[in-house]
Amino acid sequence: MKTFKIAVIAGDGIGPEVIDEGIKVLNKTAELDSGFRFDFTYFPWGCEFYAKHGKMMDDNGIEQLKEFDAIYLGAVGFPGVPDHVSLWELLLKIRKSFDQYVNIRPIKLLKGAHLPLVDVNREDINMLFIRENSEGEYAGAGDWLFKGQENEVVLQNSVFSRKGTERIIRYAFETAKREGRSLTSISKANALNYSMVFWDQVFEEVSRDYPEVETASYLVDAAAMLMIKDPKRFEVVVTSNLFGDILTDLGAALAGGIGLAAGANINPERHYPSMFEPIHGSAPDIAGQGLANPLASIWSASQMLDFFGCEDYGKTVLNAIEQLLLEQQVLTPDMGGTASTAEVGDRVVEIVASLA
Ligand code: NAI
Ligand code: MG
Repeated sequence: MKTFKIAVIAGDGIGPEVIDEGIKVLNKTAELDSGFRFDFTYFPWGCEFYAKHGKMMDDNGIEQLKEFDAIYLGAVGFPGVPDHVSLWELLLKIRKSFDQYVNIRPIKLLKGAHLPLVDVNREDINMLFIRENSEGEYAGAGDWLFKGQENEVVLQNSVFSRKGTERIIRYAFETAKREGRSLTSISKANALNYSMVFWDQVFEEVSRDYPEVETASYLVDAAAMLMIKDPKRFEVVVTSNLFGDILTDLGAALAGGIGLAAGANINPERHYPSMFEPIHGSAPDIAGQGLANPLASIWSASQMLDFFGCEDYGKTVLNAIEQLLLEQQVLTPDMGGTASTAEVGDRVVEIVASLA
């Protein structure tokens, strides 16, 4: 029997609440299948840890995480710790140390989820965003000169290496080819006359290796409009770190809201653990009250199952979320229901059992 070793960083606010439900669902799939089981190890890192120890994780935290098959992350961030500290010293540290250069965000409007657009069919919202996750605009390169003085100057540089640009674009082509879908690149070469000219050039070069994949290319501003006006144009999408960050929040709004949006941070070579997380934050405004919607966290558990090669169960979990949405019985308040976080998780577990 295969044991998947999972490092759980539940984090702050609603993080632990939604992660509990994802773990219930994962354990249910393992119970239904004699071929695999999960071994969860909890790490108490996050802002509470920071308040006690002055750091977001143990000094050798990355070393400790290395031996795991995957990381399951809730959310980090809480009032009292500056957001750039909680983000850079935990989440981004993990993404960078483990070379999780692919960020995968499904933007698929499930049956039963609210369709926010007019003149658009539900089936038209079915995109797979592949966001560059290791460099670009979030490389952390820059300077802050003459701080606080009259001649103060701030530089925030983007980094687009050939290796980094080519590998994400190639990954996207491989995905599009495997799924038999088109690939759209989103950039901004008219204004960003180095980085995005280069991006477009690499996209063009790599595309020659994939003559069977239909391609399109849009400027990011036009893409933002077209995602609303004509979402069916977008199937597999590849874009930079910043553009991907922004457009996937737009995508989350198209596909049922923040309570449903999941993301995977992948190291495709599997030299290091990959990380699975709901894309929402720690929601301090509703933390500790059982109000949080666990479906995003459960969807990311489904991505984890796919990553482990248990695609049948990944699909079953996604189908269970869809059935729950169609039933319209057991939903959290953000989706117009009155159920608690745990009640939603329990119902998903029941449906998974009935579908398997
Ligand atoms: P947020 O995503 O935590 O909350 C935004 C709004 O959505 C709030 O009204 C919240 O109640 C609601 N919401 C979020 N998730 C929900 C869920 N599962 N169910 C129901 N309602 C939900 O974003 P915000 O308020 O900007 O950030 C709060 C903290 O979270 C900050 O410290 C921020 O840095 C951190 N954060 C962490 C992220 C991560 O760990 N990946 C991502 C985004 C923010
Ligand atoms: Mg974001």
